[in-house]
Amino acid sequence: MSDMETGKFITFEGIEGVGKSTNIRHLVNAIEKAGHAVVTTREPGGTPMAERIRELVAEHGDEPMPDIAELLLVFASRALHINNVIRPALAAGTWVICDRFTDSSRAYQGGGRGVPPENIDRLAEWVHGDLVPDLTILLDAPVETGMERAGRRSDPDRFESEQSDFFQRVRATYLKIAAEHPERFVVVDAARSLDAVKGEIEDIAAALLGKPYNQ
Ligand code: TMP
Repeated sequence: MSDMETGKFITFEGIEGVGKSTNIRHLVNAIEKAGHAVVTTREPGGTPMAERIRELVAEHGDEPMPDIAELLLVFASRALHINNVIRPALAAGTWVICDRFTDSSRAYQGGGRGVPPENIDRLAEWVHGDLVPDLTILLDAPVETGMERAGRRSDPDRFESEQSDFFQRVRATYLKIAAEHPERFVVVDAARSLDAVKGEIEDIAAALLGKPYNQ
């Protein structure tokens, strides 16, 4: 399929508190201004059933959550999302901007929980095959900065309840994946001022709209 007919698939990644929502808005504004249709979505979630899986994964349930169950749930949510939202949108020429995708599984379930990367790769191949983001924007900041910005939530979910060393492993895994896939990743230093980060997102948007990243 030619570039004219297919939308671009762009994902945002990062630990909590790095400003994903705000910067997703900046990117979406720039893409819409250029005249493209955009779907903004998130994982886990993005469809009614996938959002129900998100609740299961994030909430403190009545029974222990084995790491493998957590991994399979995020991939079950992803299978729904890919089939029912992402692929149809891309096929219709709509751009898809997604708050988290499989790199979150690699960072959180892989780096954070210690699930072997090959198990995650096998699921990724099974669930999304050749669907790889055209561009992944990793918003990176020290864990302390992210935690401070995220603030202390009154009712933290299962992930937000994790300690600093968990998020250190998540961050390190993100940086490792980004270094291994420079053709797909842009790492943005999100510890800078909001204006500086916004400026870089606008530069990325300009480059993206002028010249596709992955072609
Ligand atoms: P957030 O999008 O509001 O940050 O919350 C989603 C949480 O789910 C976040 O803590 C990361 C976690 N997550 C995983 O552990 N694995 C995944 O594959 C995805 C998409 C999210």
